[in-house]
Amino acid sequence: MKTSWGYAAWLAVSGLVCVAITIFAASAYVGLDMSQARPPLHGPVHYGLLVAHIFTGTVAVLAGVSQFWPRLRGRHPRVHRAMGRVYFAAVLPSSVLGVVCAQLSLAGLASSAPLTVLSVLWFVTALYGLKTARRRQFGEHRIWMIRGFALTGAAVTGRLWGLALGSLMPGSDGADGLLIFATANWLSFVVNLLVAEWWIQSRGYTRTLPSVALKPSISSRSAQSSASVA
Ligand code: HEM
Repeated sequence: MKTSWGYAAWLAVSGLVCVAITIFAASAYVGLDMSQARPPLHGPVHYGLLVAHIFTGTVAVLAGVSQFWPRLRGRHPRVHRAMGRVYFAAVLPSSVLGVVCAQLSLAGLASSAPLTVLSVLWFVTALYGLKTARRRQFGEHRIWMIRGFALTGAAVTGRLWGLALGSLMPGSDGADGLLIFATANWLSFVVNLLVAEWWIQSRGYTRTLPSVALKPSISSRSAQSSASVA
């Protein structure tokens, strides 16, 4: 399918915004200086787990963004496959570390609940994305990858929601600050998932690549039976 200029420009701008916000978020942790960490921490082990989560999460965003470029998939399928492996190798540990960091969060249940739900969904969608790719069920694979990347993007949209809500309630700290943080964390992935489902439905992705068509044994059997009926 030919990519329109409008679609290419939209992909490029949203990809650049994702990459810029991710690099900015991760930059405070590059020096491995615990005093630069933004959330309050239990100690060095907590910091180590958080840094591992952030570095693998950054790789997931960078590898994931590249996968949505249609020319890469069409012209360089090997690069697409290699980046896909990098993406899974990053998301799976990052989501497990996300669950652990959410339980360790000193901000309490209001903060850890949305992050736990998000981490579990992030892990499960990656697992389905990997499973469907291995089974060559590419229709389903595309759908699971869109859902999964919508969750990866929560790291970006969560920060944007935090900024937007913070500007509506300037000077908020304590309970109000926590309310903003928790609301931003829920909105970060619920809205992304709704947009992803709308995207999947509106582009008819459920119908365009039926996985059954990619199973040679089934499709050749049905071809034989329809030939015998004819
Ligand atoms: C999308 C699924 C993700 C989940 C569920 C998740 C979960 C978490 C959790 C539980 C924390 C600790 C919060 C606390 O202690 O209060 C955290 C912090 C952090 N995460 Fe993630 N994370 C995700 C994705 C990412 C990605 C893709 C990045 C890429 C840069 C990232 C970067 C960070 C950073 C920088 C922090 C430290 C907080 C800050 O400095 O703003 N996360 N995350």
